[in-house]
Amino acid sequence: MAIPVILDCDPGHDDAFNILLAAAHPTIDLLAITTVAGNQTLEKTTLNARRVCTVAGIEGVPIAAGRDRPLHGPVRVAASIHGESGLDGPGFKDPTVPLDRRDALTLIRDTLLAHPRPVTLVPTGPLTNIAAFLLAYPQLTDRIERIVLMGGSTDRGNTTPAAEFNIHCDPEAADIVLTSGLPVTMLGLNASHQVLATEDVIARFTALGTPLADICTEMLGFFAGRYREVFGLPGAPLHDPLTVAHLVDPDLVTFVRANVAVELTGTHTRGATVVDLHGVTGRAPNADVATVVDAGRFWDLIVGAVWALGAHQA
Ligand code: RIB
Ligand code: CA
Repeated sequence: MAIPVILDCDPGHDDAFNILLAAAHPTIDLLAITTVAGNQTLEKTTLNARRVCTVAGIEGVPIAAGRDRPLHGPVRVAASIHGESGLDGPGFKDPTVPLDRRDALTLIRDTLLAHPRPVTLVPTGPLTNIAAFLLAYPQLTDRIERIVLMGGSTDRGNTTPAAEFNIHCDPEAADIVLTSGLPVTMLGLNASHQVLATEDVIARFTALGTPLADICTEMLGFFAGRYREVFGLPGAPLHDPLTVAHLVDPDLVTFVRANVAVELTGTHTRGATVVDLHGVTGRAPNADVATVVDAGRFWDLIVGAVWALGAHQA
């Protein structure tokens, strides 16, 4: 039976590939997409979600916009990595996939109430929408199966030396999610940096020869170029699709159970995920934390999804 999923995202190049994987793979029932401010402003991340669904022919999946700023603190974007549009690289035409008239929290509420089984939430941006939903609808937490999120790290950050972008944007939201008592799976930078979109990987998309694959090549080319310039990496870590890849192939990522605390007040460490890998704090484990990724199987999944969605375009 397919896994019912809601994606909450800030497209964002890697978010885009997570949408493609969720839409393409038969083990996922993509019920809804909600957007949040993160990689770019809410307006831009929402437009990008519609653009991705349009070029991939993803229809009938409602897209609703959520929060345009974190629960606390300033709005931050990642234009240095994702560009001014948030999805620089390809030239997109105006999207034909519409924006749902509801806001994100209403769409999540309606989707949970309408589905016969608990739904898996897959946030890959700042956790603002998810935290706001938990605060607004505590009576609906029993309709949430689990939360599988991209964010944090067992070691260094990427936005400050200590903090990863999604958590750094809204640490209070992350704290609400991690202390909610819901089953949380955390896929952090320590895992996503095991799946770098290098030139060899990008060549696999180019070889597909479909218009969608060409757009993916352009997205990855831009994304990898920025990671080379900013971080000196040989490719771009495709962070977000680790979430859906884990759902599709549970053995693809190895996890340890640990307590994850979010630093809220540190002058130099606000937004850090403090992962107690060895149980030294005595704090009860509250998350399954990703450690090791089978990169080969991961890329096979992503390339397969792009081919599946674009084959009819060939
Ligand atoms: O730090 C990487 C994460 O922040 C990814 O989800 C990326 O899309 C940005 O949202
Ligand atoms: Ca993201």
